[in-house]
Amino acid sequence: MGHPREREREREREREMSTSGILSCRPFMSLLPPARLQVLQKKQTRKHLHLLPFFSGCHCEDAFNRSLQRTKVSCSSGTDFDIHEHQGSCDDLSEFILDDSKATTFVHSVWRRIVKAGDIVVDATCGNGHDTVLLATLAIGEDSLGYVYALDTQEVALHNSSSLLDRKLNFNQRKQVRLVQICHSKIEEVVKNKPVRLVAFNLGYLPGGDKSLITHSTTTLAALHAATKCVQPGGLISIIAYVGHPGGREEYDAVKGFFSGLPTVHWVCSHYEWLNRPLGPRVIFGLRKQ
Ligand SMILES: C[S@@+](CC[C@H](N)C(=O)[O-])C[C@H]1O[C@@H](n2cnc3c(N)ncnc32)[C@H](O)[C@@H]1O
Repeated sequence: MGHPREREREREREREMSTSGILSCRPFMSLLPPARLQVLQKKQTRKHLHLLPFFSGCHCEDAFNRSLQRTKVSCSSGTDFDIHEHQGSCDDLSEFILDDSKATTFVHSVWRRIVKAGDIVVDATCGNGHDTVLLATLAIGEDSLGYVYALDTQEVALHNSSSLLDRKLNFNQRKQVRLVQICHSKIEEVVKNKPVRLVAFNLGYLPGGDKSLITHSTTTLAALHAATKCVQPGGLISIIAYVGHPGGREEYDAVKGFFSGLPTVHWVCSHYEWLNRPLGPRVIFGLRKQ
């Protein structure tokens, strides 16, 4: 990083990130100086790259170096927070970065780090049940400890989810998943006062279903508001949003606005998008600090 113009570009990038109030997780490889990126690629440091999105609102080069030592990092809000030790395989995210994988792969890799056996989690848009199955595997585990609430407004979605869960989970695990036909704005009525580790939203329409039945900004925002009250410290709200269908972009903007407004003293909010895929999915995370 010797050249003055390069240093200035780097400072500009840091200024933009630290004033935005939201940790912008645009493809983080582009956050690294090109020379540094080349070195990383040459060294094949796949095993470390998974940590980068969590640092991308910070001074990325410093944060990256510190990530190698797994220490505390200083966020743009000026608050120190712990980066969780990576407990599962980092293959998912590395595959996503290096092999042009999917938004769900990325999101699932984050869930794997957050959700532990015994946790209570909510799939706020269970659809065909693919996300619910993974959440059940993580939260319930082999010993059937945790609990999954899977919500959707459509009967067909609950039916599809139910049959997938029946096929993928054993009897004891299946008992720990409750499918509820309800709008996700009513999460609190479902989980009552239980502490929730993760509330996951995969917005839009049911794949293979009626494309006119979509999530809407008003109820999505109400659900997010409710989710902030249910999520325990150290828990996460996770969103995949789509901008390609009518109303999708407005909903995404509303969701982004919602997370941008959460207080930094309690929340670490980030978003991720593919710069060269204008209609690609958007990913947003809200991590409630410990
Ligand atoms: C993209 S799909 C979810 C995909 C799902 N997570 C999976 O793994 O198959 C979005 C789902 O949100 C549901 N949905 C729409 N509005 C909703 C609402 N207000 N509350 C709960 N679910 C809703 C739709 O019926 C649809 O099944």
